[in-house]
Amino acid sequence: MPEDRIRTVLEDLERVLLRFMRHHGISHQEYRRATGLLLASIRAGEGSLLLDIFLEAQAADTGNLGRTGSPEAIEGPFYVPGAPQLSPPHILPQRPDEAGDILVFRGRVTGPEGEPVAGVELDMWQADAAGLYSNVHPGVPDWNLRGCFRADAAGWFEVRTIVPPPYEIPKGGPAGRVLAAMERHVFRPAHLHLKLRHPAYEALTSQLYFRDGLYLESDVAHAVRPDCIASLVRREGRAQLLARGLDRPFFEVRHDFVLAPRPPAPPVAGGGRLAAPPARTGPEGRRP
Ligand code: DHB
Ligand code: FE
Repeated sequence: MPEDRIRTVLEDLERVLLRFMRHHGISHQEYRRATGLLLASIRAGEGSLLLDIFLEAQAADTGNLGRTGSPEAIEGPFYVPGAPQLSPPHILPQRPDEAGDILVFRGRVTGPEGEPVAGVELDMWQADAAGLYSNVHPGVPDWNLRGCFRADAAGWFEVRTIVPPPYEIPKGGPAGRVLAAMERHVFRPAHLHLKLRHPAYEALTSQLYFRDGLYLESDVAHAVRPDCIASLVRREGRAQLLARGLDRPFFEVRHDFVLAPRPPAPPVAGGGRLAAPPARTGPEGRRP
C-alpha cells in the first residue's frame, strides 16, 4: 500500500471516528468501555473474529469490483497456513469416529475461457460437527478437517469430508457480548472454506454455502453471496455407496470455480536477462 494512501486513509478514519463520537456524545466513560472491549477481544483471541464479522464482507465486495471469474469470499478468522498435503483419494484429516454426515465435494476449476486449470491446489478448512475449528478451538486434534489437495489435469477435483453445521460464534466471549447487546443472533450458515492457488492464475479465497440452509439470509457476518451457494444432494443408492466404498448414505455437493489469469509480468529489458538500467539522458538526449 503506497504511503500516501495509508496517510489519506488513516486521516479519513480519524475524521469519521471523531465525527461519530461528537454525533453520539460519547463520554469518557463510554470511550473507556469501548476500548476495554476491543482489548478484551484481543486477549480472548477474538480480535479478528470481532472485526471480520462486521467489516470483512465489505472488503471482499470492494475487491470483487471489476474482478473476472468466481468472486472472493471472506476468509474469516480461522485460516491456518500449512495444512497437510493429501493424495488421492482426497479425504480431509479426521478422527476415526468423526461425527457428521459424509460429504463428497467435487467440481471443476477452469479459467475464463473454460480452459482447465490443471493441477490447481485447493486448500480447504471447515468446522467439525460441533462447530469447532482445529488449531483454533481447544479439544480438536491439530489439522482436523484441514487439508491441501490438487485437481487433476482436466481441472476436476474431489474431496471427502463431513457436512459442517452452522457456525455459532462463542456466546460467552467479547464478540458474543457485542452481538447480544445489538440483539443479533450469533450464527453463520454452514460453510466450507477454500483457497485456490495456481502459478498462472490469481489466487482465490472462496466459501461455499448450502442451498436452503439455516441463516443464509441472516448471516451474522453478512457474507453470503448467491454465487457461493450450492445444493446438497443426498445419495443412498447401493451402486453409489459401492462406487465410493461407503457403508452409509452420504451427501454430495458440486461446485465449479473460475479463476482469473494473472496479468502478464512486465517485460524485462535485455531479453529477460538482468540488464543495467539505460543511462540517464538530459532533455536533448545527451547525458546531463
Ligand atoms: C467469521 C467467518 C467465518 O467463516 C467463521 O467461521 C467465523 C467467523 C467472521 O466473519 O467473523
Ligand atoms: Fe468459517
